[in-house]
Amino acid sequence: MNQQTTPAVSVRHLTKQFGDALAVNDLSFEVAAGQIYGLLGANGAGKTTTLAMLLNLITPTSGEISILGEQYPAGRERILSRVNFSSTYVSLPLRLTVWENLRVFAALYGIKRPKQRIHEMVERFELTYALKTRVGELSSGQKTRVYLAKALLNDPEVLFLDEPTASLDPDMADKTRTLLLQAQQERGMTVLITSHNMAEMEQLCNRLLFIDKGKRLMEGTVVEIREHFGQDSLEDVFLHVARGESL
Ligand SMILES: Nc1ncnc2c1ncn2[C@@H]1O[C@H](COP(=O)(O)OP(=O)(O)OP(=O)(O)O)[C@@H](O)[C@H]1O
Ligand SMILES: [Mg+2]
Repeated sequence: MNQQTTPAVSVRHLTKQFGDALAVNDLSFEVAAGQIYGLLGANGAGKTTTLAMLLNLITPTSGEISILGEQYPAGRERILSRVNFSSTYVSLPLRLTVWENLRVFAALYGIKRPKQRIHEMVERFELTYALKTRVGELSSGQKTRVYLAKALLNDPEVLFLDEPTASLDPDMADKTRTLLLQAQQERGMTVLITSHNMAEMEQLCNRLLFIDKGKRLMEGTVVEIREHFGQDSLEDVFLHVARGESL
């Protein structure tokens, strides 16, 4: 990696306290531009909270975040115009149709030729038939596809994905992974992703941060993490850690 390149995402001593509970506890990590970076950890480990802070949806208790060389709050608009996300943390307006939702986001992102771009995205996620359906009437997998179409609408430089394939059928999950790898290769898109599908994380991620109760447990490539815990797969690493066998 070129040492002089600014990381796409840099997090230093990030902490989030909810009341007495430390949801995120002194996390530091860097994501190089063009990498797919995985946040891994058990339910409640702090993955969604971390992504929500990276998107400035919630304010950190302490710590520093830098995205594309900019910081919140001063760089908020510039950051948010160059990134996008798919997260259940933020719900889409359920009474608007798929088309209306995407039109609103296209306008917010100032997308040129919005109709054409929306059609490209809905075709990609096989949603064209649902354009006139209200989002509230879609199945959870269909909703996820709308989130993904919205997430790619502005051709983001950095994409934050919180369990993007959790409710997708195997065919659409596979197509989504292919699409992310393509966007990485063709446009150098940086992706931060969470998933409980360990095979998916192995397939996609250049590096992973394994979080346990808000804290860094291990950071590295899939191979490094497997070797560190002496396991054959990420799934085995997860079970090994979750069942306390590494302690
Ligand atoms: N708004 C909130 N208020 C209080 N506690 C919260 C809030 N959001 C999250 N938490 C707590 O912070 C911790 C981390 O939650 P978070 O949603 O970040 O976990 P996660 O790693 O995304 O888990 P999952 O895999 O289940 O999605 C949990 O203990 C959760 O209860
Ligand atoms: Mg979560």
